[in-house]
This record gives sequence, C-alpha cells and structure tokens, in this order.
Amino acid sequence: MSYYVTTPIYYVNAEPHLGHAYSTLAADVLARHMRQRGEEVFFLTGTDEHGEPIELAAEREGVTPQELADRNAARFEALMPIIDATNDFFIRTSDPRHAEKVAEIMQRVYDNGWVSKGTYEGWYCPRCADFKTERELGPGQTCPIHEIPLEKVKEENWFFRLSAFQGQLEGLYEERPDFVVPEFRRNEAVSFIRGGLEDVSLSRPKLKWGMRLPWDPGQRMYVWFDALLNYVTALTFARDGEDLTERFWPASLHVMAKDILKFHAVIWPALLWAADLEPPRRMAIHGYLLMGEKKMSKSLGNVLDPFEAIERFGADALRFYCFREVSFGQDGSISTAGFEARYETELANDFGNLASRVLAMVERYRDGVVPEARVDAVLAEDFEGAVARFSELLDRAELTQALEEAWKLVRRLNRYVEETRPWELAKEEADPERLDEVLYNLTEGLRVTTLLLVPYLPRTSERLLTALAEDSRRLTELGARPGGQRVERVPPLFPKIEAPA
Ligand code: MSP
Repeated sequence: MSYYVTTPIYYVNAEPHLGHAYSTLAADVLARHMRQRGEEVFFLTGTDEHGEPIELAAEREGVTPQELADRNAARFEALMPIIDATNDFFIRTSDPRHAEKVAEIMQRVYDNGWVSKGTYEGWYCPRCADFKTERELGPGQTCPIHEIPLEKVKEENWFFRLSAFQGQLEGLYEERPDFVVPEFRRNEAVSFIRGGLEDVSLSRPKLKWGMRLPWDPGQRMYVWFDALLNYVTALTFARDGEDLTERFWPASLHVMAKDILKFHAVIWPALLWAADLEPPRRMAIHGYLLMGEKKMSKSLGNVLDPFEAIERFGADALRFYCFREVSFGQDGSISTAGFEARYETELANDFGNLASRVLAMVERYRDGVVPEARVDAVLAEDFEGAVARFSELLDRAELTQALEEAWKLVRRLNRYVEETRPWELAKEEADPERLDEVLYNLTEGLRVTTLLLVPYLPRTSERLLTALAEDSRRLTELGARPGGQRVERVPPLFPKIEAPA
C-alpha cells in the first residue's frame, strides 16, 4: 500500500518557529510509523512563496520577494534534518515546475466551466491574505488572528464557483465520516458547508508577486490556489523523470492546524473535482501550540525557537514533549519548565533508566546474553493487543493517545521490575530459571515498546535497538523473538542537562 502524507507549506515571510516544526513532526511521526508497517511512503513538506504577505514582508526589508523567499525557504529546509524530519521532498512554490503544472490544472478548471467573473467586496487581511466574513471579524473590524485593522476592499475578480459544489461536498462528508479528524473539526467543516457556500475569489488584480492566470495574464492568482495545488504538482516533479501521481494520489493524509481548515476541508475537495482529480483520503487538524495564553506566532513575537530547544535537549526530547504535553487536536500551552520536567521524569527516569537497568542486568547476571525463556503471562496480559491499538490510533492521527499507549508499556515494565526484583533472584542464584524468565521478558518488552516509539524518539530508539541487537524495525508482539542475542549496555539515554548560562 502507498501512504502519502503532507504538511502545510509554510509562508516564507518569516523564519520557522516551533509551531511549524510541530505540524512537520506530526507528519513525520506518521510517515515513520507507516514505513515500519511496510507501506510505501511519500512525505511532502515545503514553502508557500507567493502572495501579499511575502510581497509586503519583502518590501519592509528592502529585498525582492524572491530574495526573501530564497532566504527563508533555506531556513525551513535546514530545519528538517535538525528536527529529524524524513520528508521525501521539499517543494517550493516559486519552482517553475510547480508554476507550469498549476497553470495547466487551473486552465482545466477554467475550461471545465468552474470559473466566472465578478466583483468582490469584503474585509481583507493582508497578513492572512484572506477575506474575513462579518462573523469572523474581531472587535473594530480587526483580524482575529493578527489583531490588526482590516481594509474594506472592492475588486473586479475571477471567482472559483465553489457554490456549485455544495451538494457534492455534503455528500462527501456523509459518505466519509472520518474525512476530517478529529470529529469536532469535521463538524465545523460540515456546518460551514451547510451554512451555504459562496464563490471564492481566485485572482487579485493588484497583486505583483504571484502566478498569472493562464486565461487572463493581467490578473494574478490568489495565493491559496497555487498553494493548495502543491500537494498535486509535487508528485509530478519530485523525482526526476518520474511521475508519482499514479502511485500516490489521492493523498492519504493532509496534516495542518485549525487556522487553515476551511481552505482544505471545503475549497480543496471542490477545486480537485473541478480539475477532474480525486479529493484526498483524510485530513488531520491539530490545535495551536500556545505560549502562555496566545498562539505562538512570529507576528505576536512569542515563539519558542526550535533550534535552541534542540540544541539543549535534542530533537527526540522535543518531538516527545510536543505530542506528550499537548493533546494532539487540542490547543495547549508549552513552556521551558514543562519541557524540563517531562525530560527528567518521563524520558530520563521512566524510559532511560528502564533501558539502562534492563541492559545492565542482562550484562551482569547473564554475561550480556538474553536468556531463552517463555513469555510471562502477567506481562503478556498487558501487552496483548497493544501494537494493534497503537497502530489504530495512528491510523486516526491520534498522536498523543498512541504515545500514551506506548508509555503504558514503559510504566508496566517499570512495575514488572519492582514486582519481580531480579536483583534478589540473582542473589546466590536463588531461582535461576525465574531470573531467566524475568530478564527475557524485560528485554522482550523493552524491544517491543522501543519499536513502537521509533517515530517519536527516532534517535534514542535507534541506539537502543542496536544495543538490543534488533535488526528489524517492524512492529512485533511480545515473545516474537526468542532469546539468545548478545546485547550491550547503553550510556544514559537522556543525560542531565545543565541550565543555560
Ligand atoms: N501557507 C499557508 C498554508 C498553505 S497549505 C497549502 C499557511 N502558512 S503558515 O506559515 O501560516 O503555516 C500555517 C501552519 O503552520 C498551521 O496550519 C500549522 O500547521 C502550523 N503552525 C503555525 N503556528 C502554529 C502554532 N502556534 N501551533 C500549531 N501549529 C502552527 O498558512
């Protein structure tokens, strides 16, 4: 099976911050997990480089939009290996190959009769590059996201005939109850659609930095059309001389935050139909990472720098913290203090110590060779079905719950150590068979659990699985591997971190 997962493409008007890393990491967790399940995975991320926000930012900085885009796209691209994201391609919408494909697709939309001319009048936020409906306005006609006054704009525009797709969209949501997860976001999309759809403006006469409409080169394309299409165009040129569309379209999953739900859950399927293409299979909508009470965003100036956090704690700790602290799908606050607390109690103590202890005991009591023994029924009971539950949760993009499922096993193994007290069994070799059994079960439990944790803690699990002499990364059940392997001790996986100077 093929699995195609995407992140939003990020605006290049500013540098990346942890909010962007968050969506990318979510997609990466899913991509890594699906690879472990033997799926053929394509994971796409990239940058959105056209439109007014970029034009305005470039003006403020006294550079051309392309210069600004080049500079910031490079920063986004550089973030990927730092957070250990395993994207298969990084698309930039200023790539001429993207432009060429967008022109072709939009011309098809036009030829199919889904575009018409009209006048647009509404409240416009240049930072969102979007019109706001009266319902959405903040106090005193301000943007609810950027908290800046909005302009009333009246323009001659081309429109995409979204209203014509009302019935088809309602049908899509009825047929596919999990088209958008979590469910409360699906309900938002459905009620937006049921509220009645208006045609959406597709062009901007005043825009200077954007793609020209193929049928009316005097107007430039509203950035969202060129942006959404990245998910389709990338497949046509990501691999030299190869078109991946057949293999990977429709996409399995689009990951994003709630701010861009409407574009993806309402406009996007309609645009695809208009272009004779299939809508994606699913989209997962997450909440905002907040610092204090506010959304972390560059324009609000309250960002946690992912580069800095990683320098101190490592990418694994950051990945773990994001999905552990904030329930995926909900908004949630993050903080340096919270980060440090989880690092110490959960990563260093619960998991790191467990791993060190188990490996050290195998070394000390059995010369580093995992004993051959049978699965202990009391442990088996708690491991039963865990892999399937974990996988099902990730199928629904429940990243926090899946992690909790794995963490239950970590806690269970710690309790097992306390219950069985291997150091006492080892005293005068009181019960060598039982000690064999306990050590086998601990190693085996650690192996199964670590395999589940690969997508969240890729580096740590890699070290640990190597120490456990496990070659495969496939998910397996407790008892699937008989003993007999030579394992190695590991230095502390999550060492104490000094406070920054
Ligand atoms: N360019 C558009 C998306 C086009 S997709 C075809 C855009 N770009 S953006 O740079 O503003 O990125 C928005 C996305 O970044 C959010 O949907 C979310 O995925 C991520 N996040 C940005 N800040 C975030 C938080 N504070 N918290 C969680 N996610 C955040 O919109």
